[in-house]
Amino acid sequence: MKFFVDTADLAEIRDLASTGLLDGVTTNPSLVAKAGRSFLDLVAEICEVVTGPVSAEVAATDYETMLAEGKHLAKIAPNVAVKVPLTPAGLKVCRHLANEGTMVNVTLCFSAAQAILAAKAGATFVSPFVGRLDDVGQNGLGLIAEIVQIYDSYPQITTEVLVASIRNPIHLVESAKMGAHVATMPPAVIRQLYAHPLTDKGLSQFVADWAKTGQTILDQPIPRRAAAE
Ligand code: E4P
Repeated sequence: MKFFVDTADLAEIRDLASTGLLDGVTTNPSLVAKAGRSFLDLVAEICEVVTGPVSAEVAATDYETMLAEGKHLAKIAPNVAVKVPLTPAGLKVCRHLANEGTMVNVTLCFSAAQAILAAKAGATFVSPFVGRLDDVGQNGLGLIAEIVQIYDSYPQITTEVLVASIRNPIHLVESAKMGAHVATMPPAVIRQLYAHPLTDKGLSQFVADWAKTGQTILDQPIPRRAAAE
């Protein structure tokens, strides 16, 4: 499963990229507003830090302007994935850009029917929003299961299921069990994935016991017999 980070905070992106576990980045207009920087400069810098897909969302909602914005954004770097909303005009833009070889992320997907349309429009990624569905009392993870099942039934579908609006590690783990291709997570959720109290407890014990040996690893030469083998 690929891990994308859902943020426009460059410092966070640099930090997470240094772990070697980051496959891409998603941004949206709300995240860009929070970053308070020139959008295109920001996307260009993110694309230098991360070699995988970087989603940059169009701002317009009409076909002509969205298409022009999408083409403009795609010129920033080859790893830009143009993000378009799941509307009739958005999917028309998706088809056009996909035909030109541009990666497209179709966002704001809240139903299996919409996900089928995104695949038919040639989307590289479809982004179903798990947390926002949960927020309105619907089953976000249930939607992921439905989309994965449908896409798996048609080998010609190449659209990847990009699980979005992830709020906790359970959303990630359950999506991975279903075989979703990508998860985009806020930095805090990615950091939560590392955490387990027994890891902390076990490590403290090992550190304490090692101190009792009075040894250091790096001060000890490699034994001759091991080096010869
Ligand atoms: C996905 O691309 C969206 O930017 C994001 O996952 C939305 O998450 P939210 O519902 O936490 O805002």
